[in-house]
Amino acid sequence: MRDTVAMDSGSFSYSQHSEMQRLVHINVRPLFPDLRCIKNLTAVDYGCGPGDNWVCSKDALLSNTDVDVNYELYLNDGVRNNWTAVAETIREVGLAEKDERKGHIFMLPRNFYDQCMPAASVDICVAWTSFHYLENKPAYLQLPTTPGLRAEWNAEIRSQGRADLAKLLRIRAVETKLGGCFLCAIPTSIEQGSTKVHYSAFSFPIAELDRDDIRQVLEDVRDQWSPARPWHSFTVEHPAWTSLQKSGRTEPDYDRYAEFMAGFFMAIISGMLLSAVRCADGMGTAPARATSIEEETFLHQFKARFKAAMLSEPLKRIPAKGSWWAISLERKAGSTHCEV
Ligand SMILES: C[S@@+](CC[C@H](N)C(=O)[O-])C[C@H]1O[C@@H](n2cnc3c(N)ncnc32)[C@H](O)[C@@H]1O
Repeated sequence: MRDTVAMDSGSFSYSQHSEMQRLVHINVRPLFPDLRCIKNLTAVDYGCGPGDNWVCSKDALLSNTDVDVNYELYLNDGVRNNWTAVAETIREVGLAEKDERKGHIFMLPRNFYDQCMPAASVDICVAWTSFHYLENKPAYLQLPTTPGLRAEWNAEIRSQGRADLAKLLRIRAVETKLGGCFLCAIPTSIEQGSTKVHYSAFSFPIAELDRDDIRQVLEDVRDQWSPARPWHSFTVEHPAWTSLQKSGRTEPDYDRYAEFMAGFFMAIISGMLLSAVRCADGMGTAPARATSIEEETFLHQFKARFKAAMLSEPLKRIPAKGSWWAISLERKAGSTHCEV
């Protein structure tokens, strides 16, 4: 099995730094379809992560079902995800459960670029801030770079992103029952100024697709998926930025903000950084072994430099926001053959 990127490494835990992603879950709630006619419901959350954001999905899902539903919820992520943290959340959710809806939650450690579920077994697939991760690490940007080389490199990543998203939709089409649905939110930089520049500064395995890219991917898979609602974008402000705006914006307020943003950034990036430091092959193999003291020191120094940059002008005044595409599709009759 190929490796995948993993969140959570050393002291930078995704679970404690993913408030912004949680706001995404709130924004996509209206996408959930009416599931009341389904008595035995099978749902999969692809790229659920190590945190507890998947609980928002579960709640949204179940609030749209009949009370006598029997459900199975599969939580998917890469094999190197922090599954112990997921198991702990499943246990806590079970203990706190007051809902009369009966169900089982399973962990599904697999690369989502492979078929993860039996053919035509899934009623609803969801993927929140995960289907922008590429299957393979993109080529490195040639250094020293030029605007021309950078533009070429960006175009290559977007082309890989389109092909990968279409591949994910084709695999999910095999797993999904006819009439079943697919919901996802993928980040884009349409509403932000700086993200593209930041991400292209290193070889992070994600693609940020624009409106034309999404249109092309959906056109490519239209024999299997039709839009259930018009796809659209939404923007979320980082909670740390919101708090800063409500504060007196004193030096300690800015410091708290920068500390939070640096923690958030490190939670997402530290696995990739360690992978680079260890010259590991593949995607983010780093969290497989414990982080050494030297590596922890390196991560803390990296974080300190990121924080210093966040406190510098003009970055400290640029709103910390993110934008996402929200896509909701319905599996339609057609080929079940997986051409990937
Ligand atoms: C930014 S996190 C989002 C987590 C969660 N869905 C949320 O909303 O907070 C992206 C997740 O996608 C997972 N991921 C990336 N590539 C993957 C792959 N090929 N197979 C399975 N999971 C993958 C990562 O491990 C990570 O947990």
